Amino acid sequence: MSLKAPKRREKPMKKKSVLDLYKMRDAGEKIAWITAYDAPTASLAEQAEMDMLLVGDSVGMCIYGFNGTNEMTMPIMLAHTAAVRRAAPNTFVIGDMPFLSYQIDCEEAIRNAGAFIRHGADAIKLEGGRRVADKIRAISDAGIVVFGHIGLTPQSSGQLGGFKAQGLTADSAKDMIADAEAVQEAGALFLLVEAVAPEVTGIVRERLSIPVYGIGAGPDTDGELLIVSDLLGIFEAFKPKFVKRYAQLATTMKEAFAEYREDVKNRVFPGPKHVYNMKPGELEKLRKTLA
Ligand code: KIV
Repeated sequence: MSLKAPKRREKPMKKKSVLDLYKMRDAGEKIAWITAYDAPTASLAEQAEMDMLLVGDSVGMCIYGFNGTNEMTMPIMLAHTAAVRRAAPNTFVIGDMPFLSYQIDCEEAIRNAGAFIRHGADAIKLEGGRRVADKIRAISDAGIVVFGHIGLTPQSSGQLGGFKAQGLTADSAKDMIADAEAVQEAGALFLLVEAVAPEVTGIVRERLSIPVYGIGAGPDTDGELLIVSDLLGIFEAFKPKFVKRYAQLATTMKEAFAEYREDVKNRVFPGPKHVYNMKPGELEKLRKTLA
């Protein structure tokens, strides 16, 4: 596999503001964003000039090995947000509010959204449409930038019948459009649409004035999100139809692990260039004192 070195910038990249993101939308420039959960990935993404990073609760599946996202908690999400911010100081970072951190009441939702901002996020994302509109209103009234998220919403996948595409019938599309309008009306500045029929994404985008980003929602969006583990080919449990793998790191990693294992067994590693030798003459000195 060949990884192209990112172009060197003369000036450090400037972090995009909400205004920049709107200007890009108005100029027809698509936003490219991925999830990031750790410092090395965030740093590499910033060097590759990714527009935004989502510290998604998909960390539960991609890093912690759960089958869903609902095991994620505020302390876990905040630790990952802080790691991403430290390593990508010039990238717009969105913290993903975990299950039950915003659904219970508005006060708790504001407090938890604020904790993401205190840990370095520029905005928060939460799942749901009409039924969380009061929480979106409360958080944005507190001065925090909110990303809405509708369509396939993994935190309520139990009610959706699993990880299934949404908006495939006229009735479900109508529901989705009503949710999108409620999210905007409540004060969200951005909307993410996940696993939704592209025809419905197009209608949502036509009817909303805020930028509409997609993941598995077709090309008619203002920007595209991919889960980093899918993009890199690390997550092997399943591959949704909408994923494009840009690398096969699972294969590369397995090959590297096997090669290392063989080197250790065959006493090839560590070799002479992997050790810290004593200073000249010190070994003889030591031997004399031991004799
Ligand atoms: O947690 C996440 O990565 C997400 C995306 C699936 C949209 O919310």
